[in-house]
Amino acid sequence: MINKGMSNGPVGTSIQSGESMNDLRKMVVALSLLVLLSPVALVKAQQTEEDPSISYRRNVMKSIAANMGGIGDILKNRLPLNAHLADHAKNVERNAAMIAKAFEKKVNDDKAGGAKDDIWKDMAKFKEKADTLTKEAGALATVMGGGDGAAIMGQLQKVGKACKSCHEDYRKPKN
Ligand code: HEC
Repeated sequence: MINKGMSNGPVGTSIQSGESMNDLRKMVVALSLLVLLSPVALVKAQQTEEDPSISYRRNVMKSIAANMGGIGDILKNRLPLNAHLADHAKNVERNAAMIAKAFEKKVNDDKAGGAKDDIWKDMAKFKEKADTLTKEAGALATVMGGGDGAAIMGQLQKVGKACKSCHEDYRKPKN
């Protein structure tokens, strides 16, 4: 009865015909494949599988890197934002103080440039490296306030060394 009613209109007619029904099915299959294979869907799938602790610790790192980048932007381009320098250094210090806890949960993936499992073999050693960055970034905030160019450059190098020393031991090669 319902079919009969539907076949009255042009839409009903095409759905009734076996061939069009096949086309419709093919289209639906193709569309769902498209959605499944789209980069957005793939990224989403990875994100839902990833342990949120991994995303969190990477965000802490990105925050550290963004503040170092801000310092670089101001100094390299002589932006009239010297008043922000000490705050950026303090942001690095604060984030560095979160590193040890952020990495406490032993969970990993195999991303290039990601964490090495060595971190969880001796957390105390890893924490030492984080403490060094916290200390050097704190000292950076102090010299930023002083405005002595040579002292700032010297302290920036120490901060850079603190990043490098930890990455060398605890980060996989970036490829
Ligand atoms: C105590 C160790 C340690 C220190 C100090 C450290 N890092 Fe890292 N960093 C890591 C580890 C481990 C990873 C990999 C984390 C992961 O992917 O799970 C990482 C990853 C990163 C990443 C990539 C984040 C992402 O999205 O995958 C950036 C950027 C970064 N660090 C910048 C810095 C900068 C800049 C400094 C210094 C100012 C610094 N790090 C200091 C251990 C450290």
